[in-house]
Amino acid sequence: MGKQWVLPKKPAVVITGASSGIGEACAYRFSQIGARLALLARREDRLERVAERSRELGGEAHIAAVDLSGSDATKRAVVDAEAALGAIDVLINNAGFGLYAPLESVPRDDLERLFAVNTFGPLAAIQSALPGMRRRERGHIINVSSVVGKRALPMTGAYGASKYALHGFSDALRVELRGSGVEVSVICPGFTKTEFSDKVLDYGVERGRPRAGAMSAEDVADVIFECARRPRTEILLTGKGRTLAWLQRISPKLADWAIARTIAVRLPRLEQGS
Ligand SMILES: NC(=O)c1ccc[n+]([C@@H]2O[C@H](COP(=O)([O-])OP(=O)(O)OC[C@H]3O[C@@H](n4cnc5c(N)ncnc54)[C@H](OP(=O)(O)O)[C@@H]3O)[C@@H](O)[C@H]2O)c1
Repeated sequence: MGKQWVLPKKPAVVITGASSGIGEACAYRFSQIGARLALLARREDRLERVAERSRELGGEAHIAAVDLSGSDATKRAVVDAEAALGAIDVLINNAGFGLYAPLESVPRDDLERLFAVNTFGPLAAIQSALPGMRRRERGHIINVSSVVGKRALPMTGAYGASKYALHGFSDALRVELRGSGVEVSVICPGFTKTEFSDKVLDYGVERGRPRAGAMSAEDVADVIFECARRPRTEILLTGKGRTLAWLQRISPKLADWAIARTIAVRLPRLEQGS
């Protein structure tokens, strides 16, 4: 019989990508219950500001400016975070960025950077956090994917694949960790108003404008917080995302058809070296 997960009163929470957007909003949401936070990202000035506001809201916050594209640096940062907090109750693997390009010509170097941050970074963080979680027989790993991590759209093939991988290892982990007291969840936001779209690597390729009805980072953070309280396997945050994931499950061909009907596909070729 597995142990029942209960979010501790003042949980120790590691948040990657906490300097803006969804990660920042998570820091504030968890601070409201007095969480002890380790905030990780590259921009130290931004992390300091997030930490200050988190303390004002009742949290305790440590920061570490770290590039999470390197597995060794990521592992060290998580070990240091555990030492600073005394434990890790919740690991939120949220750091990530987007890439928007036709797969036919996407540069290999950019693909490697994308997977380093979106896929191998979370895996390194998990590998670092798990020994302590197993010892304490308590922990919750929350991986932030995307609705395109369930079904990639044209131009999001590389980004989608970097998120599909999160689902692959989350599915395996959940069963590997059965009965250990460690929970694994995946959160799939749809379009969310953050700095994400300003930073997407798009090589000048035309892309859709942010849609009306996009979620706020706070909306997503609320869902992540609720998931930390009552773990769920996977949460898709938009109706369209849920429909597409369902279509993909019953018939990928039908999903292709629905996507082709709603998205005009123009495939510009990227110049070599762009
Ligand atoms: N916004 C959306 O529409 C959307 C939709 C679905 C899923 N998501 C996912 O949600 C997560 C959070 O994105 P967001 O929307 O909140 O975007 P954001 O505001 O751009 O936040 C991304 C965070 O990741 C950090 N990060 C990026 N590269 C990093 C690196 N090499 N090392 C360390 N930290 C790094 C950034 O910090 P620094 O720049 O300071 O390092 C920042 O804190 C991402 O995984 C994204 O894929 C977003």
